[in-house]
Amino acid sequence: MNRITKVGIHNIFTDDETAFIDVDSPITIFTGYNGIGKSTALGIIHSTISLANRGEYLFPRSNWASQIFLLDGRILNHGKVARPVSDDFSPPQIKNPQKEDSLKQYFTDLNSRILPINKKNKTLVSKDGEKRDLRSTNVLTIADSSRVKKGAAATGIGVQSLLYCDELFNFNQDVDQSERLEELDIFSKKNTLDKTLYLLIIEFSMVETKTNFNSELHDLIKQIDELFSDSEMPLSLRERVEDLRSISTPESSFLTEVNIFFSMTGREIFYTDEKMLQLRVKSRPKESVEWFNLSKGEKTLLCLLLAAYLNKDKDTVFLLDEPDLSLHIKWQKQLLKSLRALAPKSQFIISTHSPAMIGNAEGEKIINVGSFARVK
Ligand SMILES: Nc1ncnc2c1ncn2[C@@H]1O[C@H](COP(=O)(O)OP(=O)(O)OP(=O)(O)O)[C@@H](O)[C@H]1O
Ligand SMILES: [Mg+2]
Repeated sequence: MNRITKVGIHNIFTDDETAFIDVDSPITIFTGYNGIGKSTALGIIHSTISLANRGEYLFPRSNWASQIFLLDGRILNHGKVARPVSDDFSPPQIKNPQKEDSLKQYFTDLNSRILPINKKNKTLVSKDGEKRDLRSTNVLTIADSSRVKKGAAATGIGVQSLLYCDELFNFNQDVDQSERLEELDIFSKKNTLDKTLYLLIIEFSMVETKTNFNSELHDLIKQIDELFSDSEMPLSLRERVEDLRSISTPESSFLTEVNIFFSMTGREIFYTDEKMLQLRVKSRPKESVEWFNLSKGEKTLLCLLLAAYLNKDKDTVFLLDEPDLSLHIKWQKQLLKSLRALAPKSQFIISTHSPAMIGNAEGEKIINVGSFARVK
């Protein structure tokens, strides 16, 4: 599996200086004072990976450059400046990416090739010729991921990222269905946590139906159930049907993991016949709660766990900005352990202020982002 080993960020923590952050651990935890740059660092990493995958993450912060070192030897570069470019603009190349001051050089080069903002010059033109009004966005994005070490895969960069920030999920690719979903009654435009959860539940249902589900057996059980809908099933038959039912839907590792959390609150997540996830309160086993009626913390937790489980084999770097925000302290203590269990080969870079998030999972490395800030 490919992953990020090191990140270089220029002109964020200290003016005109590059900070190199070693993230070569399964879990890297960013800590540090408010405003020290934790969310900015996660946003920059996500922007850089999105761009290298030909996607875009509209990240408002500008005037920085970044370098992402991947395990397979690739180095992704990205710079963002809030100034217009001339028609003959060409992005600078990083000359010797392994050198400590290469980002500084690149940033200086970049700044020398862009124009000052003036009243006439209100449009930014990207490298691909796309125009943007300065009042709606203030970024120009320049990428250079051309330096590929021999032997690296020919297509794609082999790493995608998922950013959870401000309690919303941002995938590398824009979720196409997102707009279509607005036609559904239950979605207001802003309600993207719900949208994310819905899409993840549908994806989960499709994946599980394919892999963990014996549909013939399931149909047979359904027929027997219908046959006895008005009368009592003989005890011996009922026992056999219950046995078959458990074989037809073997317990998924996902359900086992997710119910570590829900058993703490007297609840349980289970599958419906259509493999949709639903919640029930253990003391009222006959009633179930639809996914859109779950609490905010329950939705957030399910999204985080589903996203990890469904992307576990896709070289995904999970960038989670304060994932603990709506979770009880006991859930916080379990979160990284479970994410790691569901996606053991994935990489997690997390920011938090919560001591409960730290020290519970294997492979953690804690970085105080404040150590990169220096008063000149
Ligand atoms: N355009 C800008 N130029 C300079 N500084 C900026 C700009 N935009 C934001 N900042 C500052 O950058 C700092 C870093 O913000 P960031 O959101 O990364 O902090 P954080 O470590 O995530 O903090 P918190 O723990 O409060 O979430 C803040 O002080 C913010 O005000
Ligand atoms: Mg933050």
